[in-house]
Amino acid sequence: MKTVKVLFVCLGNICRSPTAQGVFETLVKHEGKQSTIQVDSAGTAAWHVGSSPDPRSMATAANRAYDLSHQRARKFEVSDFHEFDYILAMDAENLSNLKQLKPSSFTGTLCLFLDFAERDDYRDVPDPYYGGDTGFELVLDLIEDASRGLLSHIDSNT
Ligand code: 4NP
Repeated sequence: MKTVKVLFVCLGNICRSPTAQGVFETLVKHEGKQSTIQVDSAGTAAWHVGSSPDPRSMATAANRAYDLSHQRARKFEVSDFHEFDYILAMDAENLSNLKQLKPSSFTGTLCLFLDFAERDDYRDVPDPYYGGDTGFELVLDLIEDASRGLLSHIDSNT
């Protein structure tokens, strides 16, 4: 079976996309699909390259039994378009930046991650960086929802 490669992209790669990587990785593992689905994350900005996820993201995720501690931030590279089948942006601004970098040869899916969510009150995963704890809980709620949708989409398309 072909390996499906998924890349989550936000701005800093320390809050939203590492959370998405951790949640989706866990779901993939629980479903026994880790040999056919690979998961990574990146940021469109380079400010935090090499850093661990934000301690608030790690703590909120740990409360729901997701471990983000092994992750280190990296910047999105144009070469990622050659590597990944799904490039999923956390918000419209990141999606717009990615669309400008997209080579015409890319045949995968580039869209908003929340396109796969069941709830429809958010299109973007709101940036929690300058906000309080409720922002980090909302990020996890949205990401858990969209992760379930993404996995069933991949299941029915491979
Ligand atoms: P992320 O959140 O894009 O979800 O990782 C942010 C992290 C850092 C900054 C902004 C957003 N920053 O301005 O440093």
